[in-house]
Amino acid sequence: MRIIACLAASLDGRIGSATNLKDRIGTSADLEHLLTVRNQADAILCGGETFRQHAAIRKGNQQERPPLQCILTRRFALPPEARLFQQSISSDPPTPILIVSPQPAPLEIQSQYPDHVEWLTTGNSNPVPAILKALAEKGVETLMVEGGGHIMNLFLQAQAIHELYLTICPLLLGGQSDPGLVTGLGFPVGQAPRTEVIQADWRGQELYLHLKLQYPSPAEAD
Ligand SMILES: NC(=O)c1ccc[n+]([C@@H]2O[C@H](COP(=O)([O-])OP(=O)(O)OC[C@H]3O[C@@H](n4cnc5c(N)ncnc54)[C@H](OP(=O)(O)O)[C@@H]3O)[C@@H](O)[C@H]2O)c1
Repeated sequence: MRIIACLAASLDGRIGSATNLKDRIGTSADLEHLLTVRNQADAILCGGETFRQHAAIRKGNQQERPPLQCILTRRFALPPEARLFQQSISSDPPTPILIVSPQPAPLEIQSQYPDHVEWLTTGNSNPVPAILKALAEKGVETLMVEGGGHIMNLFLQAQAIHELYLTICPLLLGGQSDPGLVTGLGFPVGQAPRTEVIQADWRGQELYLHLKLQYPSPAEAD
């Protein structure tokens, strides 16, 4: 399975501003770029926090049918009245949705969502291997990770992201509480994922990078 990620970051590595988390930091051209990258995906995954900021169906600008929508959550604080769930039942067949959590969702929570929503329990270790196994069994060929930073961290820790589409936006946000591109315990320099540029294009003042991820082997990391 090919795994790509697509995000926009400020010059100081923030992907949003805590003063208003709904504000997009990129231009309308960056949004169009995101919708175009989505065309490659047959599954799109995001974290609970990203879902709560943009809770609509995630779909490419040339896709007839939305890809499988995957959301990671621990607390199940995903409003059942959110647009994704409402929109998903208006298509025939309904848009597929997979909610992933370390612990099983209690039945009284599951009953608040449409019947076609599927549930995956991963246990408390890094959930990425279990997610990839479940998606492979569903025939997913390209998974797109849309963040946020906590989810990027889980996938990078699992050395699972192969390519990153990263838009560098010409602003400095600087807030200590602003969400970052990667949020976790951090990597020592010798074990940090690195990137190689596949393509780089300027559109106005934004730099659109398509990057290949490279991970250290255990021997290199020592
Ligand atoms: N500029 C961009 O391209 C871009 C892209 C994406 C997001 N964003 C912004 O980034 C912000 C969100 O980023 P973030 O890093 O704060 O949050 P996030 O990565 O979107 O989501 C974190 C959430 O994911 C769930 N989660 C984390 N680890 C998990 C695990 N092991 N198993 C299951 N669920 C797990 C939890 O959800 P629960 O809280 O539901 O338990 C956690 O609160 C938002 O403001 C969003 O708008 C910007």
